[in-house]
Amino acid sequence: MFLGRSNVGKSSLINRLVGKKGLARTSALPGRTQSVNFYRINEAWNFVDLPGYGYARVPEAVRRKWRPMIEGYLERRARRIALALMVLDARHAPSELDHTMRDWLEARGVGYLVVATKADKLSGNARERSRAELASSIGGSPVAEPILFSATTGLGLREVWRWVDQALEKGRP
Ligand code: GTP
Ligand code: MG
Repeated sequence: MFLGRSNVGKSSLINRLVGKKGLARTSALPGRTQSVNFYRINEAWNFVDLPGYGYARVPEAVRRKWRPMIEGYLERRARRIALALMVLDARHAPSELDHTMRDWLEARGVGYLVVATKADKLSGNARERSRAELASSIGGSPVAEPILFSATTGLGLREVWRWVDQALEKGRP
């Protein structure tokens, strides 16, 4: 399951992982993904693309729909989520909503991985700083340290897959 702020790059991350550019719809405008989308990746598992949260410019009607839709999905499926990928923008500190999501995942024992994407927009030094800052703020995930990722260059691709593979081996659909 992929969750995070609107426009952070969740759908692009899915496309890069699967290696199909147009699989999940992406857009430069926030609020592209407006419903819970399932992409079957093998006989047993789906990648679940969720609409992003917390973007002020997303129309009010979309925001009003988000909460019940996402909360409903999460509450019903919590025990069947093999891994939550918390997608953050490598350039920005996690928002309060990101922390709220992380707390929710921890409270329900859902394993998660912090993926800091759009890392191609940072220089090498800034990347390391971002990784360290995320590790001390939202990191400390039970799974792993934050992973720097780029859907554009493929940075972090193998590392993310390693954790996804491991989670799917352990989990039961
Ligand atoms: P919502 O569905 O609105 O919640 O957005 P999302 O999180 O699915 O974001 P999406 O994948 O649609 O990407 C948003 C914008 O960021 C698009 O213009 C993407 O091309 C761009 N983008 C996503 N990932 C990257 C990345 O790793 N590097 C760069 N440079 N741009 C990216
Ligand atoms: Mg999307």
